[in-house]
Amino acid sequence: MKKRFLSTFALAGVAALTMAGCTTETGTTTEETAGETTTEAGGGEEAASDVITVGFAQTGAESGWRSANTESMQTAFSEDNGFELIFNAADNDPAAQISAVRNFINQGVDAIVIAPVVEDGWDDVLAEAASAEIPVILEDRTVSASEDLYASWVGLDFEAEGVKAGEWAAEQYGDTETKMVVLEGTTGSAPANDRAAGFASAIEGTMIETIDSQTGDFTRDGGKSVMEGYIANYGIDGIDLVFAHNDDMGLGAIEAIEAAGGVPGEDIKIITIDAVKDGMQALVDGKINYIVECNPLLGDQAADLVKKVLAGEDVDKAYYVEDQAFDQAAAAEVIDSRPY
Ligand code: AHR
Repeated sequence: MKKRFLSTFALAGVAALTMAGCTTETGTTTEETAGETTTEAGGGEEAASDVITVGFAQTGAESGWRSANTESMQTAFSEDNGFELIFNAADNDPAAQISAVRNFINQGVDAIVIAPVVEDGWDDVLAEAASAEIPVILEDRTVSASEDLYASWVGLDFEAEGVKAGEWAAEQYGDTETKMVVLEGTTGSAPANDRAAGFASAIEGTMIETIDSQTGDFTRDGGKSVMEGYIANYGIDGIDLVFAHNDDMGLGAIEAIEAAGGVPGEDIKIITIDAVKDGMQALVDGKINYIVECNPLLGDQAADLVKKVLAGEDVDKAYYVEDQAFDQAAAAEVIDSRPY
């Protein structure tokens, strides 16, 4: 897959230019049916014909990252920008998400955007969308299905995020015996698979040993309860390092460590991925030791891609948005200026 890096701001500029030519509708109707929220542009028959109807199948509402991503998508796909957005959040259930996509096909939307819960299982429904000539854009996560079945994808390089986190761990702790536990993201999801692979490759040959690895499903509660289990099995003294696939699970781990009388960030070091506000605050407070960013502000890029694809313009198969990484000092410098 060809990698092409574009910064959020460069793409947002392109989106703004594209949107300048669109009709701006006035008046809004919001309707909720079977887990879907529809926000449509008003403005009469002529205006309605210019409106692009988009079905967006979101994973759920599992994390702070996800809330920021949903907000970014809803803002970009607004009626003011010429869209009618049918929003569905699947509560992290792959089957429910596939059936939401089927509903979008049956409703005859102009385009479908998906943040896939898991990588596998998409071939049939994507083929159905292709038969109905409805273009599909993926955002955030990827799928294992053939690239021919979707128009484009915009998101983050999850493997590179894992590598960055692992390289920092190797540099800090790789020369001494370090017992690590992992809080994995949703099983079968692209970020869980790729972050695990990236991290493992970066710590290879070091003295960091993975003593346990279980899923906390990207949620704070999940991270907390898996960490409670780790502490019950190995004790605070038996764990040196936590690698959490997202901030929320790391924040849950902090709660579990504190409840057991330990000091997060000192007795047990913590590395996470996302860099949402709560995670960054914990890093500034010294409870998390390192965070690799995963930028959730993908709405403008996704909306721009939908417009280009519907206009018959050529687009690449993949657009990667670059991430940063933060230690405590770097987090303290930027925390007040971050939008999420
Ligand atoms: O797919 C991106 C991941 O999904 C984020 O890291 C995590 O917080 C979210 O739930």
